Amino acid sequence: MKTILITGGAGFIGSHTAVELIQAGYEVIVADNLSNADTTCLEGVEKITRKKIPFHKADCCDKRQLKKIFEEHAIDGAIHFAGYKAVGESVYKPLMYYHNNLTSFMTLLEIMVENGGGNVVFSSSATVYGQPDILPVTEETPRKPAASPYGNTKQICEDILADAVRAHPTLKGIILRYFNPIGAHASAMIGELPRGVPNNLVPFITQTAAGIREELQIYGNDYNTPDGTALRDYIDVVDLAAAHVSALKHMVRTDRTGSCDIFNVGTGKPISVMELVNKFQAVNKVPVKYRITGRREGDVEAVWADTSLANTVLGWKAACSVEQTLEKAWAWEKRLRGIK
Ligand code: UFG
Repeated sequence: MKTILITGGAGFIGSHTAVELIQAGYEVIVADNLSNADTTCLEGVEKITRKKIPFHKADCCDKRQLKKIFEEHAIDGAIHFAGYKAVGESVYKPLMYYHNNLTSFMTLLEIMVENGGGNVVFSSSATVYGQPDILPVTEETPRKPAASPYGNTKQICEDILADAVRAHPTLKGIILRYFNPIGAHASAMIGELPRGVPNNLVPFITQTAAGIREELQIYGNDYNTPDGTALRDYIDVVDLAAAHVSALKHMVRTDRTGSCDIFNVGTGKPISVMELVNKFQAVNKVPVKYRITGRREGDVEAVWADTSLANTVLGWKAACSVEQTLEKAWAWEKRLRGIK
């Protein structure tokens, strides 16, 4: 397998995955409608890899546009990142989320089946576990009813892929459940580029350190955790990107038909919000003004991964320490803002 289509490839995880795939010897084609990204990271990918990336400004919900890409390139597999991802926004705009996230994925699968199948990696999320009863979560941990339309689209897309793979033996699928992806490439050429006010913790921290935001709000210190702030499993985005390479290799190796393997992609180590803020300040020697406020609606108290399956079956393991990841996140923000 050689040529991989990355939908949403101009985005945060997509662009890092493009780099890892190219460096592992794959040809990469990027499709992105640039609805939540611009070409900054694609240009960064080209600088890092010194390769021109075939880029299609295309909306995956539009079958004609997507089909054209398959006509132009001999695509062996696809990694589907294209989708809306803001949990809070999905509550206000559920139809937009269901339409975009489900249609784009179904369209991709339809075209792949029509073109003789291939390997598909679907970007799922730890959000499918909700607040688990037992921690860490394994892939066998039951999914909880989704707390948001966004989370529901992840669950439904997992089911769509499982059903499609069952019905179409030429189609092979894998589901990666990401925990909390953070950080940036070591070159500082690519990283997270949130539009407007960041929803997620690390971009909010880096923007506060850069003086763009006045202060970070820490959402709640009354959780039943060691320091009262919520626990998450923060996975370095380059490690996460590497998991996609391992997943594609695993699919070729096992050539499994009829069912999709599911893997948690995290570090297996819980870190509290407070710890993360403190580590960021310590490793980067930069202050981050913060204030403890009330809990954010919809947040779970604690979730982290049991990563044994990915470690043993995919031969993948998170390699980067959280300190290194936070250094890279700050280096990227500084480069973006021209801070010395
Ligand atoms: N947090 C703050 N202040 C902020 C932002 C976040 O205290 O300004 C806290 C949150 O309350 C949470 C932790 O930092 O406890 C992490 O929050 P993020 O928004 O960075 O990430 P979430 O865990 O809420 O969500 C992430 C992804 C979702 C995915 C989910 C799966 O953004 O797409 O993980 O668990 F669904």
